[in-house]
Amino acid sequence: MVQLTLPRGSAPTKGKVHKAPAGAKNVKTYKVYRYDPNIDANPSWDEYQVSADDHGPMLLDALIYIKNEIDPTLSFRRSCREGICGSCSMNIDGRNTLACTKGWDECSSSTIAIGPLPHQPVVKDLVTDLTLFYAQYDSIKPYLQSDDPDPTTERLQSPEDRAKLDGLYECILCACCSTSCPSYWWNQEEYLGPAALLQSYRWIADSRDDATQSRLDDLEDPFKLYRCHTIMNCAQVCPKGLNPAKAIAETKKLMIAPGRKKAA
Ligand code: SF4
Ligand code: F3S
Ligand code: FES
Repeated sequence: MVQLTLPRGSAPTKGKVHKAPAGAKNVKTYKVYRYDPNIDANPSWDEYQVSADDHGPMLLDALIYIKNEIDPTLSFRRSCREGICGSCSMNIDGRNTLACTKGWDECSSSTIAIGPLPHQPVVKDLVTDLTLFYAQYDSIKPYLQSDDPDPTTERLQSPEDRAKLDGLYECILCACCSTSCPSYWWNQEEYLGPAALLQSYRWIADSRDDATQSRLDDLEDPFKLYRCHTIMNCAQVCPKGLNPAKAIAETKKLMIAPGRKKAA
């Protein structure tokens, strides 16, 4: 298991403890990171004792129960509850993942720590500011670029070429990988991080896209691509089972492929 640190700043103090009612069975303790930078001097860990019999099987079910029944001030993001939207990414039990696809019974003990994605500015509690992450995604031009100006042209692709996108197109931009990458923690202003680089390779590998060389030119930089040092946390944590490290390695191979002319 990859043990990951929480956002930089003061160490959280012990916060409030919300005890389960007497006689409650199958009780789990959720140790939840609480921080509102507008009013709190320091983050804290609040504890919520909850009977697992009172909610569904996923960590997100527990958080929704806590918010609805115990503490409406708790903030977290969620939308689809199906592992599709990427909203509910957070650090659970020491590992970045999606709260809606992680079962509370998969956690290592009956006390489960839940924090925000590491090394991102905290907006409140489990909600982090992903403005830079999305700007990096935008910077890789995540759309088809074709030399054919006719938008009505059907862009055919062989089954073999389509298969090259498997393992890439499924990314839901949850940011679990980038925020588990130590290189990204220390250089996120300059290094694009595994999520943006996997998305970049998704278009580089697309046989219908005509901008391969300019996409590679955009990555010719000491930081944007080459700050990946093959640490592999990204591939370990991806909740969709993707391998951003492989996409980065494929991109590096193309950078030095015979015949490639670097931008002047
Ligand atoms: Fe999330 Fe995986 Fe995409 Fe990274 S590669 S953003 S972990 S879905
Ligand atoms: Fe980071 Fe993954 Fe590379 S964890 S260093 S992006 S292999
Ligand atoms: Fe959409 Fe978890 S709520 S991925």
